[in-house]
Amino acid sequence: MTIRFILNGDDVVASVEANKRLVSILRENFSLVRTKSGCLSGACGACSVIFNGAVSPSCLIPAFRVQGSEIITLEGFSQTDEYQDIVAGFSGAGVENCGYCDAGKILAAELLLEKTTRPDWEEFYNAFNGVRCRCTEPERLYAGILAAIEIRRRRIYGRSS
Ligand code: FES
Ligand code: FES
Repeated sequence: MTIRFILNGDDVVASVEANKRLVSILRENFSLVRTKSGCLSGACGACSVIFNGAVSPSCLIPAFRVQGSEIITLEGFSQTDEYQDIVAGFSGAGVENCGYCDAGKILAAELLLEKTTRPDWEEFYNAFNGVRCRCTEPERLYAGILAAIEIRRRRIYGRSS
């Protein structure tokens, strides 16, 4: 089937099998390889994208659902100031960065930061429920989130909390 959708702000077309997973379409048809193919069962978050405004595992989205949708991958999100806030916060807190879980970790962080500027542990834990990071313990990730919030606050308001 031929699918048309918006990918990182561009109108795109792809010719694919109806059941081909979005993660495979992104990697094979568009070379967007920061979307990783991990568990392929919706459990690890490595394949996360923003799908019609919500962070979603692209391994669970078949091609026929992609038709007419709007998708932002980590490559697209990395062009934003919001992305820079998060990677700077993670880096400052010593969050590991092997690349495997980046899509899940960074997009989940953005979703959390959009919801609240003071996430407590429970909000953090729930936001990262679908992300399996093998390299960084949750406490360090939480510190990275708090650091990213501070960086964003300084960028927007020019002062610390
Ligand atoms: S590969 Fe999609 S959630 Fe793990
Ligand atoms: S940084 Fe390696 S899996 Fe998360």
